[in-house]
Amino acid sequence: MRVAVLATIIRPEEKLLLAALQAQGLQVDVILDRDLNFDVNADAEQASPSGAPWNAYDLVLERCVSTSRGLYALALLNAWGVRTLNSYATAATCADKLLTTLALARAGVPQPAARLAFTPESAMLAIEQIGYPVVLKPVTGSWGRLLAKVNDAETAEAIIEHRQTLGDYNHHLYYVQDYIEKGGRDIRAFVVGERTICAIYRTSAHWITNTARGGQASNCPVTPELDELCQRAAQAVGGGVLALDVFESADGLLVNEINHTMEFRNSSAPTGVDIAGEVAHYVVRVARAEVSA
Ligand SMILES: Nc1ncnc2c1ncn2[C@@H]1O[C@H](COP(=O)(O)OP(=O)(O)O)[C@@H](O)[C@H]1O
Ligand SMILES: [Mg+2]
Repeated sequence: MRVAVLATIIRPEEKLLLAALQAQGLQVDVILDRDLNFDVNADAEQASPSGAPWNAYDLVLERCVSTSRGLYALALLNAWGVRTLNSYATAATCADKLLTTLALARAGVPQPAARLAFTPESAMLAIEQIGYPVVLKPVTGSWGRLLAKVNDAETAEAIIEHRQTLGDYNHHLYYVQDYIEKGGRDIRAFVVGERTICAIYRTSAHWITNTARGGQASNCPVTPELDELCQRAAQAVGGGVLALDVFESADGLLVNEINHTMEFRNSSAPTGVDIAGEVAHYVVRVARAEVSA
């Protein structure tokens, strides 16, 4: 079997994945997204940057740092019948916090209250309807960038004015979430196919707990409750290889967001789980069409 790893750069995660895929006996090619140049009117018989046609690959594992490159590549490959992880449908939902919220709501998965508005006036109304404190965040983005915890109306007005004046189209979409008291940490859970393989707590003195922002990783036991919630949430966005952010609120577990190209370099040591190995094993099963992704 032959697979391609589509990447922007080779981070520690991609190094681990390449080794794990090779250990599964797969022939593995690395394709860098800067070399992509698709003939949109053609099909999967066209040559990929590796020289092999796209349809020579039993599966393409998308690991782009650039969300937009990854999404468009997946859209084309899936349209041509090339199997990918994740699927375009899953990736497109997860890449957008509003679409994720919508998918979770339709599946009845518990999550923080959230509203969407398009103008400064309606955004202020949305914030007041949820009640302070709220979190304003871009619908696309990661690593906790450009998130604002808003405690009062004066701050809300200032942030909205800045976004309206200095921001682009994306920042004129006002996605407002209830601020959840989560006890100084959140949970990052890893779902691979039909299993929650492990989870970490991300503990921080800051309300933004991303490990990219200094959150400390420690093992979080995968209880039946966490597993069941993560399975439902993963299925709601189409399933695949996913990392879920979960809050422990006074009202129980809430799913905050789902990531479709997860970083996991800090998570194998505390959990003792070989995350790259689990992903590689799943890649083989999907490539063999034993399971659909
Ligand atoms: N509504 C919220 N209530 C409490 N904390 C939040 C909320 N939204 C985000 N956070 C904190 O900020 C972090 C980053 O937010 P998240 O929505 O996951 O965006 P990103 O895609 O940048 O990771 C979360 O892991 C959490 O620690
Ligand atoms: Mg997150």
